[in-house]
Amino acid sequence: MRLFKVAVGNKVITNLQNRLCVFSPINNKVFGVIPKIESSKELNLIFQNAKKHFYEFQKTSFQYRKKILLNFVELLKQKKEDLVSILIWEIAKNKKLALEEIERTINYIEDTIDEYKNIIKSNNRVIDESIHHIKGKQGNFSLQPLGVVLAITPFNYPLNLLIAKIVPALISGNVVVFKPSTQGACIAAYISTLLYKAGFSNGEISCVIGKGSEIGDTLIENHNIDMISFTGSTKVGIHIAKKQPLIPMVLELGGKDAAIVLEDVNIKKVVKEIIKGSFTYNGQRCTSIKRVFVDNKIKKEFLDEMNFQLKFLTIGSAAKGNYDITELIDKEAVIHNLKLLEDAFYHGAKSAQKVKIVGNNILKPIVLFNVSDNAKIIKEEQFGPVLPIMFFDTIEEAIKMTNSSKFGLQASIFTKKIDLAFEIANRLEVVTVNINKSSSRSPDIFPFGGIKHSGKGLQGIRESILSMNRIKGIIENS
Ligand code: G3P
Repeated sequence: MRLFKVAVGNKVITNLQNRLCVFSPINNKVFGVIPKIESSKELNLIFQNAKKHFYEFQKTSFQYRKKILLNFVELLKQKKEDLVSILIWEIAKNKKLALEEIERTINYIEDTIDEYKNIIKSNNRVIDESIHHIKGKQGNFSLQPLGVVLAITPFNYPLNLLIAKIVPALISGNVVVFKPSTQGACIAAYISTLLYKAGFSNGEISCVIGKGSEIGDTLIENHNIDMISFTGSTKVGIHIAKKQPLIPMVLELGGKDAAIVLEDVNIKKVVKEIIKGSFTYNGQRCTSIKRVFVDNKIKKEFLDEMNFQLKFLTIGSAAKGNYDITELIDKEAVIHNLKLLEDAFYHGAKSAQKVKIVGNNILKPIVLFNVSDNAKIIKEEQFGPVLPIMFFDTIEEAIKMTNSSKFGLQASIFTKKIDLAFEIANRLEVVTVNINKSSSRSPDIFPFGGIKHSGKGLQGIRESILSMNRIKGIIENS
């Protein structure tokens, strides 16, 4: 068991009188213990202090904020091994994926610093009499930070998605209160102490630890919040939007990304890519491929190849090696997937694989076919290593099936006919379509977001910065 400190405003808290215990999915035992927030009074004070400090922090220079962020990058590099070990034990991410998450996060910070400079240049504008119909006016428009940003982050990318909210906020001169999910709270607390050590030690950041069910509403209702960036479930996203209808908000919610496979593809290659897109980190990515639609003309070859290649996925504990399939985040996640499987089989689905749990919380990957439209797996997010494959006769049908989901995050199209792929892409009700690759948020510099039940607003580097600033206009009249 490991004790974590947490940075809240201008203090690092070590007192474990009120604490949150985080269990490891690897052995279901307590992995980390962190000081938690108990009362609404404490929480309100955190926001009050954050707002107070914002008025000071917004006056700091870009160079000052950049320097602290670069100190933070250095600390991330120094602590890489420790970060990897926390990611392995707290969320059962294998070492290779954990390292990738850290690397992409470092790139994210460096790219954000560069992009902020460009954004400021292109958004600070003077509009005056050089425009023929403007007389006696000079409009000075510039970007200004919003104030207190509340970041709420999920378990699956607890480092990257945290930084992707905190860093665009801080570089712009906002202050941040962040609340990680319980699974992911250890790494968030650890990161808060690194940010503090790097120089954000006067009240710029506050990490709030606690169960959403206990402090969630007090947290999101606070009147000192100026912006919310949330990644998590659609249910919670809608709840937040209802509680704070007027403040700017970016919501990254669920996904049910489809892959459409046309008949002209190299089946071996496409199956390999879909397996990667679907089963990386056990399918626990919002961008995992969660439905596959294949042209009926290649049904047999596609299924045979899928069942063949599935056997090569390695399965084992995240603590023991770089296995493809590791522990799901908790027992509930296993149960959720088992229920979806049971329901799919009840509705007539077939599979060449057997349902099997290995060790603790590890569900062997399963591909389903003959899946009925009435099965829950068609509509609900599985967030696990279970993949339904359906077949179509016409492209119209494939488009209709893809758009039938309430989610609208990303989709993939596999074909050699690029013009046709563009045509289909333009008709899919999602934000991003990937041609001949599986869905993915990365590279993080790309704009990323969802429509329908997948969310609103955009992330990405430029988009996140813009979402955390507003235009201020000062008009000089002569
Ligand atoms: O889970 C959501 C998302 O951030 C995953 O990122 O790059 O693996 O698609 P990526």
